[in-house]
Amino acid sequence: MSKHTLFVCKSCHRSSEEPAEGQSCDGRILLNTLSVQHYAPEELEIKPIGCLWACSRGCVVALAHPEKRTYLLVDLPPDEEHASALLQLTQMYMSHRKGAFIWDKLPKQLESALFACIPSALPFSADDDSDEEEES
Ligand code: FES
Repeated sequence: MSKHTLFVCKSCHRSSEEPAEGQSCDGRILLNTLSVQHYAPEELEIKPIGCLWACSRGCVVALAHPEKRTYLLVDLPPDEEHASALLQLTQMYMSHRKGAFIWDKLPKQLESALFACIPSALPFSADDDSDEEEES
């Protein structure tokens, strides 16, 4: 089975002001925060990306797998609490055959961060939500 990927925009910056010289932007900070958290690199790749086209809503990440829906999450502070919540959500995503998750079990920090859900383009994994009343 293909690896799951957490794309992280390395260019996001939550402030309207540029970072001071020598200071990292928030996207880079989130990447660094995620990289020191515990996750299984054989199952998940955390991949820096230049931009996810939601620049005014940083930090922005996308959770993807070729055979599952893709989720775009926005407005993420680059702190340990949100990095940990992101990996918790990622674990739920990896555990479900379609990448769905149960809303009641969604980490509280991410309840308002889910911004878009894009179905898989693969025909054999077309979404059928009939068996997922409580799931996204
Ligand atoms: S700079 Fe992060 S989404 Fe564009």
